Order: sequence, then C-alpha cells, then structure tokens
Amino acid sequence: MKELADYQRKIMITGGAGFIGSNLLLYMLDKYPGYLFVNVDKLTYAGNLASLKAVEDRDNYVFAKGDIIDSEFIDKLFHDYLIDGVINLAAESHVDRSIMGPAPFLKTNILGTFNLLEAGRKYMTGRQSFRFHQISTDEVFGSLGPEGHFKEDSGYSPSSPYAASKASGDHFVQVYHKTYGLDAVISNSSNNFGPYQFPEKLIPLMIYNGLKGKPLPVYGDGCQVRDWLYVVDHCHAIDLVFHKGLPGKTYNIGANNEIKNIDLVKMICAILDDLTGEAGHFELIRLVEDRPGHDRRYAIDASLIRNELGWKPAHNLEEDLRETVKWYLDHTDWIEACVTGEYKNYYNKWYAKRLGG
Ligand code: NAD
Ligand code: TYD
Repeated sequence: MKELADYQRKIMITGGAGFIGSNLLLYMLDKYPGYLFVNVDKLTYAGNLASLKAVEDRDNYVFAKGDIIDSEFIDKLFHDYLIDGVINLAAESHVDRSIMGPAPFLKTNILGTFNLLEAGRKYMTGRQSFRFHQISTDEVFGSLGPEGHFKEDSGYSPSSPYAASKASGDHFVQVYHKTYGLDAVISNSSNNFGPYQFPEKLIPLMIYNGLKGKPLPVYGDGCQVRDWLYVVDHCHAIDLVFHKGLPGKTYNIGANNEIKNIDLVKMICAILDDLTGEAGHFELIRLVEDRPGHDRRYAIDASLIRNELGWKPAHNLEEDLRETVKWYLDHTDWIEACVTGEYKNYYNKWYAKRLGG
C-alpha cells in the first residue's frame, strides 16, 4: 500500500465479497488504479473471497473482515483510511431467507446502513468531499400489474421482509441527506445476473440443479415477471451514479429485459442441453408451491440515468445468459465451494419444503 495521501480517493465498498460487490471491485480496481478501495465484508454464507483472487494483491486494495453493524469497527476504518466515499452493498439479500427468518435482514440492512450513515455524518466535515451511495433494489416498490414501469418517484410498497428492510435503509439515506446535508445518492436496480452469484438465486440455482440432474423448482404458475440486468452493466451504472449522480437523487437501473420466470428457466434448459450435449433438461422443471407475498411483475424505467448520466446497457439477456451458463460450467469448483459450506443446511430445508423428501 502507498501513503494514503497518494491515493486520489479512498472508497469503502461494503459487501465486496458478494455477487455484485465482487464484480464491482473487479471493475473499479481496473478502472481507477489511483483510488484506494477498502472492501468491508463479514463473509456470511454469501461472501466468497475466491471471487476476488485476481485482485487480492493489488496495492490499491484492502480487505477488512467485519460487520457493518459494529460501529466501532466502521468508525476505525473511516479514521484509519480517511474514507471519502462509501458504496454500500453489504446486505442480507435473499427474499426466501427473509421469509424464513427476518431478523438478520433488519440488523444488516437497516442498522448496518444506519451505522455507515452515522460514520459518514461524523467524518464528512473533515473530508474535502464525501459521498454515500446506497445500492438498493426495485423490490422496494412492490409489485406492478401487467402494464407500467417503476419510476424514481413510484411509491414504496415492499412485499417481503427483505424489501421492507431495504426500503427502510433507503429512507434513512434520504433522511441523512435532507436533515444532515450528507451527500448521498441511491440507485434501485432490477434483478442482476452474471458470474459469482450465490446459487440460492434463480439463475445459478437452475444451472446448478440442471447440471446435477435435480428438479428445477419454479414457484407458483411461473408467470411472474422479472427485468434482468447483466451485472457488469450494473457496475457501469453504479460508477456513473457514484461519480456523477446529483446529491439526494435516486436513479433506477434496468435494461428492459422483462421475461416470465418459466420462460427464463426454459431458456436455461435449452442452453444447458446445447452446452452439455445432453438433452432432457426441460423435463426437470417442476411447478411448486408459491412464495408467500410473491410480487407478480417488476419492470424498470431507466430513462433518468440514460438521459442524465448517459448510461446504456451494453449486454442483452439472450447472449449473456449463454455466457453466464458457460461461466458456471467452467467454474464448478467455485459453485461447489458455495454449496458445501453453511449453505447446505439451508438448501436441505428449502429443498424439503419446495420439493418434498
Ligand atoms: P450477496 O448476498 O451476494 O452479497 C452480500 C454480501 O454482503 C456478502 O459478501 C456478505 O458476506 C456481505 N454481508 C452481509 N451482511 C453483512 C454485514 N452485516 N456486514 C458486512 N458484510 C455483510 O448480495 P448481492 O446480490 O451482491 O447484492 C448486493 C447489494 O445489491 C445488496 O444491497 C442488494 O440488496 C442489492 N441488490 C441486489 C440485486 C440482485 O439481483 N442481486 C438487485 C438489486 C439490488
Ligand atoms: P430470486 O432469484 O430469489 O430473486 P428475487 O426474489 O429477488 O426476484 O427469484 C427470482 C424469481 O424467481 C422470483 O420471481 C422467484 C422465482 N424463483 C423460482 O421460481 N424458483 C426458485 O427456486 C427461486 C430461488 C426463485
């Protein structure tokens, strides 16, 4: 590591060992060699430092293992590294888990966000510039009917404990901007896909189960719609919002890739048939009991970030889904390491509930 004064900026990225966080660090470390990035991660079941192997020795990267709800730990990092920006991705992020046990969601997603904001409030006056960027989700808006899109001014109407905890975190961010003048921005994105996603989420779960010849559980009638965003496009958008977004503003991020869950799973099956040379993945699909409070449709209107910040997705669902399936096929060691840890207990419980036995 160089002297702190030699870095143009000192940015804390929380949750950097998770899916989007690791993709973001890989992106930012290449793009901003003059910045210092401090990755703060508790390494829950979802955190995986293997995703960051390629960058762990960089002299502008530091890993600090710890919990964002530990305010002393966070304050010390702000103090020691003269942090002048936070991108907060650390979260409990899985809706099904939040239904099974909401408490960790309240702690990390609400109290953790609050601690980071408090550290920002304490230290912002001593820093030349300070910015807080909250990474949030379209799930705070609740469910859409067959028409329409979420806009930045859509009302918050969360349906799951996960979404409620993220909504609460967002409210605190807005309040810290309005009340204390903290320079803060929020971005709400749609469902991400791509490499390094934990295999409890729909796409990597279907790929993993498909490869193992296990059933592919589709909730309810499978006609729920999600609007998929390739994770690298999301990282580009985060970069723009963090650097150029207006203080106090919210930006929606989505790439117009609406598709029903059942159709997406069928696409994955077709790709698996093709890439493995083995037919029959479609026969693994099972319609199973629905998720309680399951939102019917999400769709993002991303015209603000497109028009104000010039963001444009460079990827599309069809091509990048294929690349994503290929990535998981080429990284079975990465995925096996995920499923053999703490996750095993959850997976077994979840499997018994959804598929019986
Ligand atoms: P993830 O579950 O893959 O990763 C979360 C990371 O946070 C893990 O590395 C975990 O160890 C860490 N973490 C959890 N609790 C912590 C704590 N108390 N202290 C420190 N670290 C902690 O999640 P993800 O999919 O990468 O999502 C990242 C962020 O993006 C989340 O805030 C999520 O709400 C948001 N988001 C995700 C999506 C998506 O499709 N994945 C879409 C929109 C928004
Ligand atoms: P998920 O990846 O959990 O993301 P989110 O709930 O945050 O949107 O789920 C995406 C969609 O896929 C959602 O509508 C629920 C559905 N789903 C299934 O049908 N089967 C599954 O096994 C999982 C995990 C999700």
